[in-house]
Amino acid sequence: VTADAGEQPFVAHRHHLDLYRAARAAGWSDRRWVEAVTELDQRVAAVDGTGLRTTPVVPVATATGPVLAKVETGNVAGSHKARHLFGLALDLAVAGEPAGRELAIASCGNAALAAATVARAVDRPLRVFVPAGADPAVVDRLAGLGARITTSRRRPGERGDPCVRDLHQAIAAGARPFTVQGALCPAAIDGARTLGLELARQLGPADPAGQRSTDDTALARQLGPADPAGQRRPAGTGSAGGPRHLFVQVGGGALATATMEGLARAGAAGGVVLHPVQALAAHPFVAAWRRLLAWRGLRHDPPDPLEAGPEVAALMEPWPTEPRSVATGILDDVTYDWLPVASWTLRTGGWPVLADEATLLQAAAEAAASATPPPDATGAAGLAGALTARREGTIPPGAEVVVLLTGVDRSWEAAHRRDRR
Ligand SMILES: Cc1ncc(COP(=O)(O)O)c(C=O)c1O
Repeated sequence: VTADAGEQPFVAHRHHLDLYRAARAAGWSDRRWVEAVTELDQRVAAVDGTGLRTTPVVPVATATGPVLAKVETGNVAGSHKARHLFGLALDLAVAGEPAGRELAIASCGNAALAAATVARAVDRPLRVFVPAGADPAVVDRLAGLGARITTSRRRPGERGDPCVRDLHQAIAAGARPFTVQGALCPAAIDGARTLGLELARQLGPADPAGQRSTDDTALARQLGPADPAGQRRPAGTGSAGGPRHLFVQVGGGALATATMEGLARAGAAGGVVLHPVQALAAHPFVAAWRRLLAWRGLRHDPPDPLEAGPEVAALMEPWPTEPRSVATGILDDVTYDWLPVASWTLRTGGWPVLADEATLLQAAAEAAASATPPPDATGAAGLAGALTARREGTIPPGAEVVVLLTGVDRSWEAAHRRDRR
């Protein structure tokens, strides 16, 4: 797989973004938006070696059969997180935020690296709250990008992420949140809608009788020759028609939310069944989902979770012990944006999947054979969910399966480091 020299997502899909509408409402011309995105992209590329581009969709061969994967591992800072943070940087520009105000995030991994890369690109100070066990290589890289790092420690008996606790304190003291939680930073969700918007174009309609646009030559290259029914699917992806099953790894929930919203804004959510994926070893979303189903079972006509109010919001509880799994990037104690994920899961007729540790590792290994840069266990956790569902027979045999390979294997990256400044 090579990075697709496609369009800049925030230019190509701007008309579907709230940020673009906010910019226009603030008096920006279309041209000013395109120039601002282009300049930001160049600044990001000057820090990271690459700007944001449409990422490829590739077939991945697995022991359970083929799946389609959108590959984010070659994205800015090695994951899809840069999409969220690019949106936040544009939000600062549209809001006219003063340059000196400190930005703040709680993360020890992909989100922090993306935040530090983008903050560096726009020359703004960033504070990062990291846990005591943060990977020293990541912490060094954050420091190299100019971030101010604070280690947050869990107090005895405390539930919930100590980094998030400290982040809230910093925000109360005046810092601006620069984080991938939709509740704190709605513009972070907007930025990653580009992923769903791209995917909608790249996959085309799920219904074999439907039509797909054939005007995207980069896409046509990726997907290969059209089949006799006029579909452009990679050969041998096992599609037997019907809805496609989308497996998305869930940590804080922003990725699954943004992907579904992007698909919906492109008019493509209808043919998709969403499966949020978490690690069997730590799964606050799935625990809350089960409570939600029980709550709904007691009601005649239960409302959408997004409209249900505080009683349903309170069904999310912090994971009771310090979460541990090979999928380190999705170990949030709390799925902050769980309500939209639950809502999309219900609306699409989907259900969550739990992946065990062996399957998480297997998924990373299988994806590495087809996708470059290879994902780590977090980046391949959606694929692990797909492998689990196929193995357990909970999705129809031959159903089309789509996953997101979201984050690079950092040890592979260290050995093949792109030229970064
Ligand atoms: C590589 C990777 N994939 C997926 C996720 C999950 O995204 P979210 O936290 O938005 O659910 C994360 C971060 O949490 C991540 O680092």
